[in-house]
Amino acid sequence: MTTPHSTAPTAPSRAEFPRDFLWGCATSSYQIEGAGSEDGRVESIWDRFAATPGKVRDGSNGSVACDHYHRWPEDLDIARGMGLDAYRFSIAWPRIFSASGGKPNERGLDFYSRLVDGMLERGLQPWATLYHWDLPQFLQDQGGWNERATVDAYLAFVDAMTRRLGDRVQHWITHNEPWCTAMIGNFEGLHAPGLTDFKTALQVCHHVLLSHGKAVPLIRANVPGAQVGISLSLHPVRPASASAADQAAAERHDGLRYRWFLDPLYGRGYPAATMAQVGDAAPSVLPGDMEAIAVPTDFLGVNYYFPETIADAPGAAPLGSRVLAPASVETTALGWEVAPQGMTELLARIENDYHPGDMYITENGSCYDDQVDGSGEVNDTDRRRYLQRHLGALKDAVASGVKVKGYFAWSLIDNFEWAEGYLRRFGLVHIDYATQQRRLKASGKWYRAFLKDET
Ligand code: NOJ
Repeated sequence: MTTPHSTAPTAPSRAEFPRDFLWGCATSSYQIEGAGSEDGRVESIWDRFAATPGKVRDGSNGSVACDHYHRWPEDLDIARGMGLDAYRFSIAWPRIFSASGGKPNERGLDFYSRLVDGMLERGLQPWATLYHWDLPQFLQDQGGWNERATVDAYLAFVDAMTRRLGDRVQHWITHNEPWCTAMIGNFEGLHAPGLTDFKTALQVCHHVLLSHGKAVPLIRANVPGAQVGISLSLHPVRPASASAADQAAAERHDGLRYRWFLDPLYGRGYPAATMAQVGDAAPSVLPGDMEAIAVPTDFLGVNYYFPETIADAPGAAPLGSRVLAPASVETTALGWEVAPQGMTELLARIENDYHPGDMYITENGSCYDDQVDGSGEVNDTDRRRYLQRHLGALKDAVASGVKVKGYFAWSLIDNFEWAEGYLRRFGLVHIDYATQQRRLKASGKWYRAFLKDET
């Protein structure tokens, strides 16, 4: 549990961070690639979900997106031009496997091989995320992550990717934000596959964590010297009031949102209090599963956006609490509270609770309604300020001794923001979806200056 801070850190300079601190930007396959049916790519759960009326706000989908599948050299040039050390991307599983038990698709493997070569030619360290939500639809048709067989299918995918790229990619992230895969996709129904069943969500969660645990030794076997981790979406949790009811609700929420993931990953099993609260929805766990999930990793990826304010809500599923829209605080265009110190607090808490070793901020960013002005500039001063203040908070975390070793801004380019479609922009680079023109925003120019240590 954390308390709000009102002090806003100011913009630091790069020189105030350790020399080997790693700076990057992140993206994900479905959100940017497009080329939805090229080179043997099959349907993903997001294609199916987006094609269902009412699921994506603007009725859009990722079939063209930023056309990154064809324009990746330009995008990597932009990343190099900004002076990034590293680029975090994800691999579309539906480009690699089109059927259970089949052979990997050479054209899909080749695409990522060229992409990685492109990064290395530009001096960008590749950070590959193996699962950023685009499950092949044929696996969902067989039950998806609710089925244990999907863990084996994932391992075949991980094996194919690490064999193909392991001579050039050292940094591997098994999963992006398992909370979203499990809960937003299978309980809230707001993401693919759009299910609304709590028990399914917890079983999905268990299989995703298990697949992580089983993938780690496989990646190590295929990639000598691999650095392997997982990226979790985490929030400082704040009770809406000092009432005992709100405090207890925040505690319950935190048990599911934070401990349910970190406790098993760091060898403590699922938290007993939350296990009792979920009752019959508890996942089925086989002997050896928890040991597999607790496999040691090289780093923890933390995706930080905002703190959550939690109120008691008797009867509300699943645990009688709800996340409040923050009142009287600064928010982004998505209504997310702007709280740079939340990042410092969160990192300190994780360090204190789990001693995870190295941590990386694998995502942090903000959504604003950007406009291209008459001279072709995107003056996203709010996003620039958000970035500056969060780097200030990160500097505080480093100074306090937390072992955070790098930062990836979300996102390199505007992209398909899931259920929000193209209505929401997070990029440091603006995309004109009609022309596919890329424009470095003021925030991107500031990041470039920061990376050149010219701020
Ligand atoms: C987290 C997700 O990993 C990413 O896909 C998404 O676009 C950002 N947050 C912003 O919502």
